[in-house]
Amino acid sequence: MLLQWFVICLLAMPVLTGTGQNCPTECACSVDEHNRRQVICTKGGLSAMPVSQIGKDVRVIIIKGPGNTITIGHYFRNFSHLEVLRITDSQIPSMGSECFFGLVKLRILDLSRNNITNVNRNNFRGQDNLHELDLSKNKILNISSTTFGHLTELQRLNLADNSILELVPRIFFLLNKLRYLDLSGNPLQDLPPDVFRDLPELRIFKCRNCQLKKINPQLYNLLPMLQELDLGRNEFKFLDKDEFRDVKNLTKVLLDGNQLSVVVDELFRNQKVLQHLDLSYNRLAKVPNDSFKHLGNLTFLDLSYNKLVRLEPQSVRRLNNLQTLNISGNVQMNLLDMRETFEVIPQLTHLSVADMGVLPMGLLVPFKQLRYLNISGNHLDNMSLQVIDPCRELEFLDLSRNQLYGINEDTVVRIQRIRNVRLDNNPLICDECHMGKLINVVQHLQWKWETYPICFLPKPLRGSEITDLDISKLHDCLDYITDEEQNAASTSHNFLERGGLNTLAILGGIILVLIVVIILAMAVCFSKRRARYYTREDRLNGGESGKCIEKGLETSNGNGVNGGSPPEHAKTPTTPTNEINFKFPIDDRVCTIDELVLPPAPPPPSKEPPSQLPPPPPATANSVLNSLTYNSCTGNNTATALAAVAAAATVIPPGAPSAAGAAATMSPAHNNLPSEAIVVVLPTPPTHYKTEQQLQQPQQLQLTTIEPLISVN
Ligand SMILES: *[C@@H]1O[C@H](CO)[C@@H](O)[C@H](O)[C@H]1NC(C)=O
Ligand SMILES: *[C@@H]1O[C@H](CO)[C@@H](O)[C@H](O)[C@H]1NC(C)=O
Ligand SMILES: *[C@@H]1O[C@H](CO)[C@@H](O)[C@H](O)[C@H]1NC(C)=O
Ligand SMILES: *[C@@H]1O[C@H](CO)[C@@H](O)[C@H](O)[C@H]1NC(C)=O
Ligand SMILES: *[C@@H]1O[C@H](CO)[C@@H](O)[C@H](O)[C@H]1NC(C)=O
Ligand SMILES: *[C@@H]1O[C@H](CO)[C@@H](O)[C@H](O)[C@H]1NC(C)=O
Ligand SMILES: *[C@@H]1O[C@H](CO)[C@@H](O)[C@H](O)[C@H]1NC(C)=O
Ligand SMILES: *[C@@H]1O[C@H](CO)[C@@H](O)[C@H](O)[C@H]1NC(C)=O
Ligand SMILES: *[C@@H]1O[C@H](CO)[C@@H](O)[C@H](O)[C@H]1NC(C)=O
Repeated sequence: MLLQWFVICLLAMPVLTGTGQNCPTECACSVDEHNRRQVICTKGGLSAMPVSQIGKDVRVIIIKGPGNTITIGHYFRNFSHLEVLRITDSQIPSMGSECFFGLVKLRILDLSRNNITNVNRNNFRGQDNLHELDLSKNKILNISSTTFGHLTELQRLNLADNSILELVPRIFFLLNKLRYLDLSGNPLQDLPPDVFRDLPELRIFKCRNCQLKKINPQLYNLLPMLQELDLGRNEFKFLDKDEFRDVKNLTKVLLDGNQLSVVVDELFRNQKVLQHLDLSYNRLAKVPNDSFKHLGNLTFLDLSYNKLVRLEPQSVRRLNNLQTLNISGNVQMNLLDMRETFEVIPQLTHLSVADMGVLPMGLLVPFKQLRYLNISGNHLDNMSLQVIDPCRELEFLDLSRNQLYGINEDTVVRIQRIRNVRLDNNPLICDECHMGKLINVVQHLQWKWETYPICFLPKPLRGSEITDLDISKLHDCLDYITDEEQNAASTSHNFLERGGLNTLAILGGIILVLIVVIILAMAVCFSKRRARYYTREDRLNGGESGKCIEKGLETSNGNGVNGGSPPEHAKTPTTPTNEINFKFPIDDRVCTIDELVLPPAPPPPSKEPPSQLPPPPPATANSVLNSLTYNSCTGNNTATALAAVAAAATVIPPGAPSAAGAAATMSPAHNNLPSEAIVVVLPTPPTHYKTEQQLQQPQQLQLTTIEPLISVN
């Protein structure tokens, strides 16, 4: 290896002997804000370093893909003034020995997003002044001890997203000035405390997604200066009350995406300076009264996407400095009880209560100072929107994924004072009486919203931003809106992904799923041995779009088969069925939507029911849903699954047997689906919420009311 690199380095040398001062054609040369000469090559497609044309006095070199295939030789050695070197996205297979030797002024070396598999001590020989080393997103498998032994001045080390399996003893030997260490995204499974003995100055430590199950408390004992700890997306089930005993200077702790079911009382007793605590996407069912007792400096608390049923006033009483609270996605939480808790923390400025189902009136009365409010995914309509009335200081309001089809005049007056409002994924009717007022106001605002509401109806305007509309050409008042369309508009959004997908991905997904749906629909329509059910929409469209939902003959309602009589279109309207398409990256911890809607009735005979099956929850819309979920997602009761439950609670109308039936019968066709595309067929949501009794026996209920329009051919 060494020899090989030596040869490459030698070969590269002659190229560099003639050094011109002009700028390489592939690059841009300039002077940066610190008055340093810099060369930036970001066009991509480079197969060799354009070093021969770079002047020796260059102090910053930035080379970035895509499509570069670069190997590093000794040719940097003569750039003795170099301070910053970034070569990213360039498929560099490894770092040559001593290739950076002589770059005594180099302070930042960034080789992230390459193909480096191996690093050793010789790679960094001569880097006595390096402050920052970024090797993230490479393919490093193992790092031998004392690899970083030359980097005695190093303060930041990023090894995230490699494949490092093990931290060998003394791996950080001599890095006693290191303040920042990121090991996220490596399958480490364990952090040997001894390794951290060499890092007395460490302030920020990240090991997200490291497959950790527990941490030896001795590790914290060796890191007394630790301020920021990110252990999100690991597999912690329980944290002992002495876990953080020795890290008294922690200001930020991220434990999201673990499997914690409880925060023990004294866990944070020494974290008097803690400001930011993220416990989202765990399995917390309860926050004991004294859990946060000592967190008087806490400003940010994220408890979203857990299983909280209640948050006691007692448990947040001491949080005098709390500004941000997120309790979104705790679908089992009784918000009627929360009013009392909210009254204890009236100083909040940021609140997220998204994906909760329904918000009771008056919930937000205590929050007079709220500036940021996220109530997306809550079935809000124009009546229940009054819940925001007490909050007069709002600067940001997220109303996306609700059931709003218009904004009335009073609300428009409120909204026009808010700097940024989100109304996407609502079934907005862009006519004079529903949206006219808002359109007028929004078009004349002095500031810009980040995104503008998009029309859902009338059809010719579907997808248009309201800022693009000509008010004088709007319809007066369109009074039609079908439940199915409303539902489709407000749920066609992907909210399983925590980070949220970017628009392109969503668009791509939608197109992909549409194609699949069309293929499916065609396959189904021409399938001879199946009954067909046309949706109301099909009838409205004269059925020409060929949309139909398949339903297997074996469906229990017994109406499926009808002796080959020809299709009849002329029956009275039945419960319409609509199709909603989801796409999200497949993750083995996710209960996919089709699993979620599968009926619990036929359990796989061989499988035991999952061991962590929860006790029967109180009968609510969500609990029906949950029982569906836990039955079908065997052993997948993880944080992500929880998110799926939360999501499903918003998507799938309470007790949706026809959806279940349809999804179940569609399973044979799933072989044709791309692995990440899931098609869910949902019935219309009920116009009002069903009584609990109805919810408990959804199967019989709907089966008697559904009458198929069409029978088999
Ligand atoms: C560095 O510069 C010296 C003289 O300026 C020259 O002899 C040598 O070949 C150069 N090395 C490289 C790698 O360009
Ligand atoms: C670098 O890794 C990418 C992605 O795995 C691969 O496509 C490419 O062929 C690799 N390049 C080299 C030079 O090994
Ligand atoms: C890296 O790991 C591989 C496989 O486990 C092993 O063969 C190799 O010796 C290791 N290299 C170093 C430098 O530890
Ligand atoms: C915590 O931080 C303060 C100043 O920020 C420092 O004086 C103190 O020594 C630190 N505590 C420990 C245990 O390192
Ligand atoms: C908040 O932190 C400061 C130190 O920054 C500390 O002195 C104070 O006691 C803390 N407040 C509470 C209520 O714990
Ligand atoms: C927690 O506090 C509430 C009052 O907010 C009280 O009713 C309840 O009994 C307390 N629970 C425990 C376990 O002390
Ligand atoms: C919870 O809400 C806060 C503030 O609105 C936000 O910063 C945070 O990302 C949210 N958490 C999740 C898991 O979405
Ligand atoms: C509001 O909350 C939802 C659900 O947690 C989230 O997807 C969305 O990104 C949040 N809105 C903003 C603007 O952060
Ligand atoms: C909500 O919309 C319905 C139907 O359009 C209308 O009858 C009702 O008056 C509206 N309510 C409010 C508070 O605007």
